[in-house]
Amino acid sequence: MLEKLSQLREEISQALQSPTPEAIENLRVKMLGKKGEITSVLKGLGALEPNERKSAGQAANELRDWAQEQIDTAKVQAQGVLQAQALTTEHIDITLPGKRRGIGRLHPLTQVYGKLEELFISLGFDIVEGPHIETVYHNFDALNTPESHPSRDVTDTFYFNDDYLLRCHTSPMQVRLMEKQKPPIRVVVPGKVFRRDEIDATHTPVFHQMEGLVIDKNIHMGDLRGIMELIASHIFGANMKIRLRPSFFPFTEPSAEVDITCYACNGKTRQDPCRVCKGSGWVELWGCGMVHPKVLENCGIDPAVYSGYAFGLGVDRITSALYGITDPRFYFENDVQFLKQF
Ligand code: DAH
Repeated sequence: MLEKLSQLREEISQALQSPTPEAIENLRVKMLGKKGEITSVLKGLGALEPNERKSAGQAANELRDWAQEQIDTAKVQAQGVLQAQALTTEHIDITLPGKRRGIGRLHPLTQVYGKLEELFISLGFDIVEGPHIETVYHNFDALNTPESHPSRDVTDTFYFNDDYLLRCHTSPMQVRLMEKQKPPIRVVVPGKVFRRDEIDATHTPVFHQMEGLVIDKNIHMGDLRGIMELIASHIFGANMKIRLRPSFFPFTEPSAEVDITCYACNGKTRQDPCRVCKGSGWVELWGCGMVHPKVLENCGIDPAVYSGYAFGLGVDRITSALYGITDPRFYFENDVQFLKQF
């Protein structure tokens, strides 16, 4: 037995002369693992004669402690050797120039939203957002939009089922706001809207609006006109001319489209029709009107006491007009070369 132990000790000393970390681990398993040689000597002690057992046990335990210590020390040393090797063979070239991270910037649409919000905050409006998933009731019915209206068609609007859809404008927030708040109301609602449009030079299935709603006593068309002019001059500068062109929306009466002088041809190339205004000299940017009495009634507001105006700014169009962008697809392509110009 004692001879066996001194053989094992010799073997361990040999194996630890200049070992790799793997060799050390193998040796540990071979000697001290569950089925290791020292482990099985320790297990076999019980079979020895009592007088032999004591000295053999002492020697075997001592060998086990010694082996464990040798192996631990060897592991630390072997790792140190590897590290020292790495230090001499691996280099960091501190003279290489670093990688510059480009600083991002706000998307042009976000910038225009910001400019609009700045104006409306200065005028005392609240800013609220609404749900993208709307009820058919808020999106159409409460807004006085009859079943026969083309925008209600499944070919124009994304329906989930008979009751829910992706809002096709921000106007349903007019209803949500009037349902829970009594006048005076002064609010704008920025957000995405969704329509079943094929992507082309003037359409994208997702685009951006900012709804405006003002309800109070004695609000009239002159107030609406004044605010429309303020928006145009805040975005495009004091010289920008607008015109209100009679139009139709089911939820306003009267209704108007707000046009600005064409940003591409400045309203001057009527003989040689311009691609943007098609020769009219004007570009349509958004819709507006006096809130229809039926809409007020639908929301529990008495049209004999209160009146108001509403508008739905086309943020993509305003941005295109501001920067002369002739294709809305640029807004969604995430091309940094494009985005960093603004
Ligand atoms: N909701 C209309 C659309 O998406 C835009 C609009 C027109 C909003 C007139 C209004 C409004 O608030 O008064 O085409």
